[in-house]
Amino acid sequence: MIKQAIIPLAGQGTRLLPLTSVFAKELLPINGKPGIEYILDECIEAGIKEIVFIISNKKKMIKNYFYSDDFYNKIIKKKKDSRIIAEYKKILKYKKLIKFVYQNTPKGTGDAVFKTRKYIKDKYFLMLLPDDLIIKKNCSKDMIKVHHKNKASVMASMKVNSKTVSRWGIYSLNKKISKNDYLINGVVEKPDVKKAPSNKAVIGRYILPKTIFKKLAKQKPGNGGEIHITDAIQTLIKEGEKFIAHNFLGKYLDCGTMQGFINSNKEIGKL
Ligand code: G1P
Repeated sequence: MIKQAIIPLAGQGTRLLPLTSVFAKELLPINGKPGIEYILDECIEAGIKEIVFIISNKKKMIKNYFYSDDFYNKIIKKKKDSRIIAEYKKILKYKKLIKFVYQNTPKGTGDAVFKTRKYIKDKYFLMLLPDDLIIKKNCSKDMIKVHHKNKASVMASMKVNSKTVSRWGIYSLNKKISKNDYLINGVVEKPDVKKAPSNKAVIGRYILPKTIFKKLAKQKPGNGGEIHITDAIQTLIKEGEKFIAHNFLGKYLDCGTMQGFINSNKEIGKL
């Protein structure tokens, strides 16, 4: 079973400025609920029992959100408000699951993943990128099923406009193995439009093998000077690790850009 998840949260959120100059983007409300809670609910519903948050000193606000016990206890004592009691109980439920590690220099997603190496116990774990919300269907839960059926690593996949491939990790597909699943030959981070192997993009849900930590220990910075998880995945594929691209069924919402964030509020408001 996949029981552990990791969530990189040390990003600066420049695509959402000015909202993120003093505020963590993952705590910004989407239709009245912090974005990160949607991600946590997806994990819990998928059977995840432990979640490692990778934060930074600048984003301690995220830890404080889950550790405001004194604040809640004082207010609840004074007001005995049932809504606040229910909200606090929800926070406590999340808090029990979460551990924190720090990535104080933004060196890329690969480096963020590497920081969690001491916590990961099982052969495979789940990673969720909090900018990517998937609604209407639990993508993590479906990917865990694909993982068990095929005994392989799995990543979420979506067809994108060919002109936008340089914004994503892009798959080179091998063969279809079931209705929504493809075996992949490789994956490349943010390729040029002319060099892209397909228009199938990596969306932020990954079931990764623990062996990736050994690759990350040696991983050199890639595109844009960052250490990319995509490059370590490519190394594993070359060495024979089986990776599957899963065309997820839910609706993708990009919460990491201003326009996408505004749209996410509208879409979730309609649910
Ligand atoms: C990251 C990954 C990229 C993936 C994308 C999905 O990029 O590096 O491969 O396609 O998430 O959202 P970022 O959004 O951090 O630039």
